[in-house]
Amino acid sequence: MLLRPPSKFEVFGSVRFYDVCEVVSLSSMGVRGSSDVFGLDRDSLVDMASKTAIVVPVKNEDLWVFEGVVRAVPLASPLIVVSASSREPVDVYSHEVEVVKLISRLSGRRAIIVHQRDKAWVDVLAKAGLGDLLDGGNVRYGKGEGMILGVLIASWLGARYVGFIDSDNYVPGAVVEYAMAYYTGLAMLNSRYSMVRISWPYKGKLPTDDMIFRRKGRVSIHTNSILNAALSSIRRVETDIVKTANSGEHAMSLDLALKIPWAGGFAVETEELVAVLEQCYVDVEFKGEPCPMAPEGVRILQVETRNPHIHAEKGSEHLARMAAESLGVIYHSSLASNDLKVRIRATLIENYHYEEEPPQPRIYTLNHVDPGKIVSEYLSLSEMAMDIGY
Ligand code: GDP
Ligand code: CO
Repeated sequence: MLLRPPSKFEVFGSVRFYDVCEVVSLSSMGVRGSSDVFGLDRDSLVDMASKTAIVVPVKNEDLWVFEGVVRAVPLASPLIVVSASSREPVDVYSHEVEVVKLISRLSGRRAIIVHQRDKAWVDVLAKAGLGDLLDGGNVRYGKGEGMILGVLIASWLGARYVGFIDSDNYVPGAVVEYAMAYYTGLAMLNSRYSMVRISWPYKGKLPTDDMIFRRKGRVSIHTNSILNAALSSIRRVETDIVKTANSGEHAMSLDLALKIPWAGGFAVETEELVAVLEQCYVDVEFKGEPCPMAPEGVRILQVETRNPHIHAEKGSEHLARMAAESLGVIYHSSLASNDLKVRIRATLIENYHYEEEPPQPRIYTLNHVDPGKIVSEYLSLSEMAMDIGY
């Protein structure tokens, strides 16, 4: 892939937020291109891919769609599937294990699949000081919670980077493109605390009978504009730099992943940005606190990919919950003024008939844990997890 480096970035304390960058060529096959673009030669591409673990969270998605995603994740990257799928009446998880096993054995790739509700996590996480992840007998349901398990496994594998790709992607070619954007973007940033987030040219939802290609996701349009409004009023300079507040497709360095606070459920993607902006901008400028990612600071790159992002239609209740959880992150953060809180509640009522105060996110921190120890203990106890091809 060839990327055109963004011509503009904005600075918030020690966060460098780059504008959306363009994919000049989808598959450069090791050709470096002109001096105005950034691309990796073949060896560097394979090297970046092998250092990047790809985490796929899944909860009862169409098996055929999940399989397309598994087949699309580039072979050089270790694949980590974190499933919260049902075990009864149909054992969906066992089908997912079989897909991962089959494809991994055929292709010879390293793959790990674990279940989020596996009892083997319970004592291990409690002992490691991550008891908040549990809801009594199991790890809580929630996309964020699943992603945290993925981060721990990626770290145990020794990965330098971790990328996330949703399992309800109908276009396997889009999955390949996201992975290429992660490898190329992270290499271009070449920085200890770095993140690449995908922005979509068009977003669609199946079923196809009324399919339209939307320029913006239905929730992200609001999250982006609220986050931009917050930044504009704090800095007193208007900005529209944030275009990927809800992007499920994103990647970051493990150094960053283990330092930032994580949120549960659908608050997770918004929290990544809000936490970094709180810790390395607002708290630094207004409270004199040090940014935990200093002196390097955080670099955030946004890449606009070319494949349409088409994923499963989950109904308006799902959208309302997502919007509330996501906007709740901003609402309960130090970025929100009273005016902004009023605006968030108005947005939720107007667009989602959501009348309550948005929920406070559940926050987890990983900086005190030893992921290697947690995951090796978990794998030795688990009867559900599979580690294929090591
Ligand atoms: P949307 O794309 O933002 O509307 O959200 P989705 O409902 O599609 O969820 C994004 C991804 O996370 C999909 O691949 C889901 O299967 C997966 N997912 C949702 N909830 C959970 C969960 O509780 N645990 C795990 N491991 N994955 C989840
Ligand atoms: Co989806």
